[in-house]
Amino acid sequence: MGSVTAPQTITTDAISLHPPVDDDAQLVAELMDVPVSADRPAQIVRGWREHWDEHGYGAWIVQDADGRRVGFVGLRSHPDFIRVTIRVVEGEGGDDLAAQALRLVVGHSLEWLPDLPLRIRVAPEDIATRFVAESAGLVHVPDLDHVVDGDEWQVLELPYVRIADRIPPRAREAMLTMWVEVNDAGGAVGFVPGASEEQVAAVLDGYAAKLADGSTVCVALNSPLGELLGFGFVARATGATVAHTANLERIMTDPARRGTNHGALLMAGLHRGAREMGVELVTLDYRGGTGLGEFYTRYGYTEVGRIPGGVRVAPGDDRDGVIMARSL
Ligand SMILES: CC(C)(COP(=O)(O)OP(=O)(O)OC[C@H]1O[C@@H](n2cnc3c(N)ncnc32)[C@H](O)[C@@H]1OP(=O)(O)O)[C@@H](O)C(=O)NCCC(=O)NCCS
Repeated sequence: MGSVTAPQTITTDAISLHPPVDDDAQLVAELMDVPVSADRPAQIVRGWREHWDEHGYGAWIVQDADGRRVGFVGLRSHPDFIRVTIRVVEGEGGDDLAAQALRLVVGHSLEWLPDLPLRIRVAPEDIATRFVAESAGLVHVPDLDHVVDGDEWQVLELPYVRIADRIPPRAREAMLTMWVEVNDAGGAVGFVPGASEEQVAAVLDGYAAKLADGSTVCVALNSPLGELLGFGFVARATGATVAHTANLERIMTDPARRGTNHGALLMAGLHRGAREMGVELVTLDYRGGTGLGEFYTRYGYTEVGRIPGGVRVAPGDDRDGVIMARSL
């Protein structure tokens, strides 16, 4: 297996994130509304850099598409969880930048950071931050709410991934229900709408042998409150020459909760699971005409093959079978 380390910068068309440098004291001073000559901003940046050195992760500085530094997403290690904080300069589009930055950071965290709960705390009246957190997939866990020095805090936690070599009976039921719902909603996971539970169960149960012999793992995304949010499989190729590759299969999220970053979190979990198996190159396929190529391109995939008319969705409705790949 290659010794792959977590990337230290994350870049999209709209924003980029990087670890702090001394110059970022200027930004911190602005966010705190104090002069940059005050000690505190430089101390904060030094603390962030020490955290990076000690843990290999920490606060990210957020830059917009024009290269302006507009805020930070902090990650701080605690004994049994990782705290995330977020702050962007006020102004038009600030909340949108914050949401994009947080979405990227939580996906990266799920893929690379120690397997600990990731939590954010929000004052009950801070609707904007709560909205940003929820749009990145975090879920309010009332049991974790608390009061510090008279201030009330609500705690939201990121869904977590379970990478498993078997499917427990309760999980099987939830997966089966979701798979049938995804088919009926037009999802492209091996069936056409209206497929019966028995037909789906046969394919789901077919994974049991592959899980048992270690060639495949099941990756499930779960809410901190216990519900299944999505799942998929990492199926290693068989054969000595291709054992460093795997195919990602049956990628799906709960149709009732789309657009809350669960797809991104699931992809992060699948990549984590694949790396843990020693996989270095992943492939996947999708049906043409679903727009899914754009979704996967965001996660580093490139189209490497297309079989014209290779998927028959219904008589007279043939779609291309499209193959994508990326290295891990
Ligand atoms: C593909 C899938 C896993 C994405 O999950 P999700 O929960 O919607 O994911 P996220 O919230 O992280 O991402 C949503 C983003 O991806 C885009 N996206 C999701 N599905 C898309 C599709 N079919 N076509 C184009 N874009 C899509 C959304 O437009 C959204 O973009 P935005 O952030 O700019 O608004 C989910 O839509 C799904 O389960 N689909 C049905 C099953 C399926 O077809 N799986 C693919 C098998 S190859």
